[in-house]
Amino acid sequence: MIKKLTILILLAISVGAMAQQMPADKEARMEKFITELMSKMTLEEKIGQLHQISGGDVVSGELSSDGNKTAQQIRSGGVGSMLNAKGVEKVYALQKVAVEQSRLKIPLLFGMDVIHGYETAFPVPLAMASTWNMKQIETMARTAAVEASADGVCWTFSPMVDITRDPRWGRIVEGAGEDPFLGGAVAKAMVKGYQGEPGFATNTQILACVKHFALYGAPDAGRDYSTVDMSRLRMFNDYLYPYQAAVEAGVATVMSSFNEVDNVPATANKWLLDDLLRKQWGFKGLVLTDYASINDLPRHGIGDPVSTTIRALEAGTDIDMEAYAYHYMLPEAVRNGRVPMALIDKACRRVLEAKYQLGLFENPYKYCDVTRPAKEFFTKENRAKSRQAAGESFVLLKNDSITLNPAVPAKPLLPLAKQGTIAVIGPHGNNRPMMLGPWFYPHDIQRAATVVEGLKEAVGSKAKVVFARGCQPFESEEYAQRVYFGKEFEKDNRPDTEILAEALNVAKNADVIIATLGESTEMSGESSSRSILDLPKPQQDLLKALAETGKPIVLVLFTGRPLTINWEKANLPAILNVWFPGTEAAYAIADVLFGDVNPSGKLTATWPQSVGQIPIYYNGKNTGKPMDKWFQKFRSGYLDVSNEPLYPFGYGLSYTNFEYSDVILNDSVMSPKGQLTASVTVKNTGKRDGYEVVQLYICDKAASIIRPLKELKGFQKVFIKAGQSVKVDFQITSDLLKFYNSDLEYVCEPGDFDAMIGCNSVELKSAKFTLVE
Ligand code: BGC
Repeated sequence: MIKKLTILILLAISVGAMAQQMPADKEARMEKFITELMSKMTLEEKIGQLHQISGGDVVSGELSSDGNKTAQQIRSGGVGSMLNAKGVEKVYALQKVAVEQSRLKIPLLFGMDVIHGYETAFPVPLAMASTWNMKQIETMARTAAVEASADGVCWTFSPMVDITRDPRWGRIVEGAGEDPFLGGAVAKAMVKGYQGEPGFATNTQILACVKHFALYGAPDAGRDYSTVDMSRLRMFNDYLYPYQAAVEAGVATVMSSFNEVDNVPATANKWLLDDLLRKQWGFKGLVLTDYASINDLPRHGIGDPVSTTIRALEAGTDIDMEAYAYHYMLPEAVRNGRVPMALIDKACRRVLEAKYQLGLFENPYKYCDVTRPAKEFFTKENRAKSRQAAGESFVLLKNDSITLNPAVPAKPLLPLAKQGTIAVIGPHGNNRPMMLGPWFYPHDIQRAATVVEGLKEAVGSKAKVVFARGCQPFESEEYAQRVYFGKEFEKDNRPDTEILAEALNVAKNADVIIATLGESTEMSGESSSRSILDLPKPQQDLLKALAETGKPIVLVLFTGRPLTINWEKANLPAILNVWFPGTEAAYAIADVLFGDVNPSGKLTATWPQSVGQIPIYYNGKNTGKPMDKWFQKFRSGYLDVSNEPLYPFGYGLSYTNFEYSDVILNDSVMSPKGQLTASVTVKNTGKRDGYEVVQLYICDKAASIIRPLKELKGFQKVFIKAGQSVKVDFQITSDLLKFYNSDLEYVCEPGDFDAMIGCNSVELKSAKFTLVE
């Protein structure tokens, strides 16, 4: 083994603001304008810019604002921005108060959680990531920005880029999964989609907001808002890159997280918000809190309300979302000398800069064109984009060959022929809101077609589609209440035995069963952690009863997170995981079930066999006592479950098969300034054309610190016609070999590496190379 010397390549310095930098003359004009404006502002008006209140039309946290007083607060100059005010007419009316009735006529910003579409729902973010198609993800964000901006929204609280290795955490649904390299690519694509070209020249470009900074995806025990504690090395090597990537892509705003980072809540964490984000990464935009999180600070036990509010400002928090803490406490704190005016000025300037950059001082009604919704909501084009994205996001987990007639050779159950009687069974089969997933606030939640409707349209007169509900979606009424927190959900009031009997009767006369089951829309998302990741008990019972009929079953699985579907994997011939696909769910499901679209999605988070394996992730380290095969005494493992995942990161099947050649490297040595090409030839050996996500992983064989066994360092989604081959090349530069060492220097070290290429994080072919000094 080559003795390694550290090559210090580059510290991550001030690359951040590149994409959002303005031309110097424009920046000078902005500074002059804002300086003049601020010279006229009172202390209260400046603090008003830092105060964000809710419009209350959408509920995303505990409300503090008093809706009746909203206009009065705006008129007095006491509000700088709003969230959750829904509807362009309402936004227009509120903006009118700000620019026609307040003393300095400063326009408001209107923010909302536009997470996976606005009126046209796209698949949930975890599903979008499963497409591994950055163009598709950018299109989703662009389409969402166009629709949201037509409704008065000029700021989305997205992308959420929190890495998580814990599917108990309900918010796994909002991010891109467990890998920082992929997460960074997704972050960049989304920022580009929302913000468009630098300059916000059009009224469809809106401010993006990367969140939740930082490490929100690593709560102890997977419990939302729980303690986070990790080493700086883990932070820098595994968790921080996607936020940094968003900053590099020019994201205009950052939302801090509810959790603590190094024992200090992110909201009041100066190291995080100032040293790292602004100084090291060069972020120039504004930082806002998560929902009322300044009010959480005393509960974290770091001081009284006044001192913690001041600490949040000192840390670099510009906007207080809905806590009213800045509003109530800062004026007095400035007057009594506890807070220097310069700190208020700094934060106020950043808010005004965001408004200036959007062009709101020139035209405060830029996003208030009341004629746009009719033209731009839920259009044919947007729906087609959503349908395409949905089909591409589905992950085919299993597709066994079966035959019910020994005289007929077995063949994969999917795709289905459009013939015979197709029984759709399960509560997700005829439920519209269930298609949408969490974090979606359209005007009409009954807009999506049901699975039954989609399949009927697809088969026309060629086949019969029948439906039975089969079971309740939840184990109990109490569970349902917790999930829907008072919101309405569709319930079947018949006795459970009657619901099941009807389903078995329907199944008896069918040629194939499509079991539409899984999590309900609100079972993942905020404050929706789970300690058991099985299908809800009534759904398991239904599946077992259906399996006893001997009919072939396709499980069409709805979920916002990885699930421990061991029984289902072992006992059902086909499983198509569709996540929450959005408004076009029904049509996209039909596209894939009948083979008009060949599935190509791949998992971006590991699926565990058991909750006890969590945290589980593909890019782990070897340990000194790795277990090669289950079970070996005195090796790192469990008595009752192997270390293998149920489905690994990067996994997903197709209706065709792909065969990988060995990995060819164009050289076996590389210098830090040089590069290598790693190539494979992928052959489509089946009968259908298809897309394949070819994945490159790298392992640093021996370094100054322990490195993961493999890390994703490249991926390409390629289209390969049946019978044809495609050569796929990956360029390996020293950038891909860098990591943060014990001194938190970003380095690559000479020595041996493995380049591994394959169809998922487990089935890989490998070649060796050496980085020389
Ligand atoms: C969530 C954020 C969201 C905010 C505003 C909070 O509860 O954590 O993700 O952006 O509410 O709705």
